[in-house]
Amino acid sequence: MPDKSTGTTETIPTHIAFIMDGNGRWGTRKRLPRLAGHRAGVQNLRRLAEDADKLGLRFMTAYAFSTENWTRPEEEVSGLMELFREYCGQFINDSRKNNIRIAFIGDTARFDADLRRRIDQLADVTKAKTGLTLILALNYGGRDDIVRAARRLCEDAAKGRLSPGEVTEAMFSGSLDTARFPDPDLIIRTAGEMRLSNFLLWQSAYAEFYFSDKYFPDFRIADLIEAIDRFNRRDRRFGGI
Ligand code: IPE
Ligand code: IPE
Ligand code: MG
Repeated sequence: MPDKSTGTTETIPTHIAFIMDGNGRWGTRKRLPRLAGHRAGVQNLRRLAEDADKLGLRFMTAYAFSTENWTRPEEEVSGLMELFREYCGQFINDSRKNNIRIAFIGDTARFDADLRRRIDQLADVTKAKTGLTLILALNYGGRDDIVRAARRLCEDAAKGRLSPGEVTEAMFSGSLDTARFPDPDLIIRTAGEMRLSNFLLWQSAYAEFYFSDKYFPDFRIADLIEAIDRFNRRDRRFGGI
């Protein structure tokens, strides 16, 4: 049990999920294009994931592109797609030296064939790694995740493999993109905004929340340790007393 009076990182939560916000503002504040902020954000994610792996964290999700982010100017969306393409290669290079497994959630069917191939390749190359699992949420929306899960269950029902009364919470969880991963214990949002923005709606039922004013490119391992210390002082009751 953690010491609630002092807070301690002795207890590392199993799964920490990031709403990596503030990349655009980070760029603008430095009088740079917003895309420079996105690049700095991905660079920071690489570093933070390696540091979190050394800390002993098991799962880390990073919300990198939402189902609503397609509404941004075409130039920013295509710049982000290029960045994802480039960093798939970078993460493969990094995997030669680290023990991080990379997985994806979200509806990647909307991406072009080349990006989809790189995503599959990155997941495949790192699938046997035994350290941190870094889950990248790309074209992810909590509502979209729930709707796609419902569709899968409906298809099973239509084929006579399942009757509606048999649907359980566990079965529903098992139909979501996150089926293979535990629910997040702690959700961290950077850049001062205090909302979920359609992130892990089902999975966040009993998550703790931590908000930082720092823009994501400036959020370091020391900030993560501070968030974990705060987490360890919380009293999670899960509806009990
Ligand atoms: C988060 O940073 C990354 C994406 C949504 C792709 P933003 O791009 O939302 O940065 P701000 O919030 O505009 O500063
Ligand atoms: C949430 O950030 C999505 C990601 C971090 C990928 P947004 O910047 O898109 O969210 P809003 O628009 O401020 O709610
Ligand atoms: Mg934002």
